[in-house]
Amino acid sequence: MDRYIIILAAGKGTRMKSDMPKVLHQVGGKAMVELVLDASEALHPQKIVTVVGHGAEQVSTVIGDRSAVVEQKEQLGTGHAILMAEDELGDKDGMTLIASGDAPLFTVDTLNHLFEYHATSGNAVTVLTAKAPDPTGYGRIVRDELGNVVRIVEQKDATPAEQAIHEVNTGVYVFDNKLLFSSLHEVTNDNAQGEYYLPDTLEILRTQGYTVGAYTMEDFDESMGVNDRVALSKANAVLRERVNKQHMQNGVTLIDPQTTYIDTDVQIGRDTVIEPNVVLKGHTVIGANVHLTSGTQIVDSVVDDGAQIDASHLEEAHVGPKATVGPFAHLRPKADLREEAHAGNFVEVKNATLGARSKMGHLSYLGDATVGEDVNIGAGTIFVNYDGVDKHHSNVGDRSFIGSNTKIISPVNIGDEAVTAAGSTITDDIPAHAMGIARSRQTTKPDFWKRTPLFKKFGQSDDAK
Ligand code: UD1
Ligand code: CA
Repeated sequence: MDRYIIILAAGKGTRMKSDMPKVLHQVGGKAMVELVLDASEALHPQKIVTVVGHGAEQVSTVIGDRSAVVEQKEQLGTGHAILMAEDELGDKDGMTLIASGDAPLFTVDTLNHLFEYHATSGNAVTVLTAKAPDPTGYGRIVRDELGNVVRIVEQKDATPAEQAIHEVNTGVYVFDNKLLFSSLHEVTNDNAQGEYYLPDTLEILRTQGYTVGAYTMEDFDESMGVNDRVALSKANAVLRERVNKQHMQNGVTLIDPQTTYIDTDVQIGRDTVIEPNVVLKGHTVIGANVHLTSGTQIVDSVVDDGAQIDASHLEEAHVGPKATVGPFAHLRPKADLREEAHAGNFVEVKNATLGARSKMGHLSYLGDATVGEDVNIGAGTIFVNYDGVDKHHSNVGDRSFIGSNTKIISPVNIGDEAVTAAGSTITDDIPAHAMGIARSRQTTKPDFWKRTPLFKKFGQSDDAK
């Protein structure tokens, strides 16, 4: 049977107290609506339609071409919102799953089981329900003595007896598509909130003689809806636990999963060890046998097998196999460390390649440069790449030795097996095997001590007299 999906994402999200539309708030490093789209796509529907409204433009931009988009200009309720999709889906035969852009934790497994259950149930609609420890705020599932679903009652319309029900509407349903739209036309807004409630379709279909049913899921956390920032943090915690568990089951050691923050799309190879307080974001890919120590934050970067990153920050960087970074290094966009390269403490790299086995251990800046293999870059070396308007590129050949505190005023080309004298300010090219020295000669003035104020303070030691 054909599958369709409608995602509700038009609501204002008043309780978030935010200038940003609710469904764009992030869980696990992704907008909630993106997580719902991820799960939706994995169910292989014929079509996905997302209903946008509040912040329509921003939300549509995030959705891109992943879903058809329809606009609900006024937020008159979930039932009214679904009707906005009638032009897109009204004539289809099949089953339609309804999901909410503010409930981002449903797994593909659960939604697949719901589709499968519905397909064989003969129901006009199957609502996905869960047993909530605290059902406050949710619609309650009202059943008759035989356990059949009778209707769903919203918190604000519920009698005290109904409010005592713990089985809640997760906001996810599968409908026979045509019955969905026909019953929606019967929904009124005669209720406590003056809204057109989607859940009212259950009672409408039942009184029309159709069977309506429920599929109860085990894990309430998975059904969590995010209505405020407290729930947002809870959703992040639930997803984090799920993601971390998956990595551990795949052979990654997390010393303290409670303090390890890994975005949904991050990939990590086996036998990698991650210490507490590590943050891995975006589309980061970490290889096998990598060691990440506390304080490391990696965004949209690739770290190859066997590398070690020690308390460092990486953004859009690449760290080659067995390379070592930190402590306290900063690899910025297009930093590329090749195999066994080393960028040590207080080293910054940006738009530059550090070749295989090359070492830059201390207090250096490598920007807009290509450094060959087996190069040693001494402490305090600065690639002076920016003239205030343009960036300039320099090259350093294989096995060269850059003396400590060299300033390389780009653009310059330094050949293979070349040397710069410590403290030099290099403005000209240095051919292969040559040394560049660029510093003024030292002058030494004897008996200078007596001319300093320090002489008045300390006098002069016997030895020096
Ligand atoms: C809804 C259900 C409730 C269920 C709960 C599960 C209704 C009337 N109630 O309540 O039974 O237990 O979800 O989380 O459906 N939206 C629109 N347009 C609108 C109104 C809402 O697109 O006019 C969207 C919202 O953006 C949101 C979703 O529909 O993504 C749910 O709306 P919300 O106001 O959060 O409903 P709840 O009060 O949570
Ligand atoms: Ca909600």
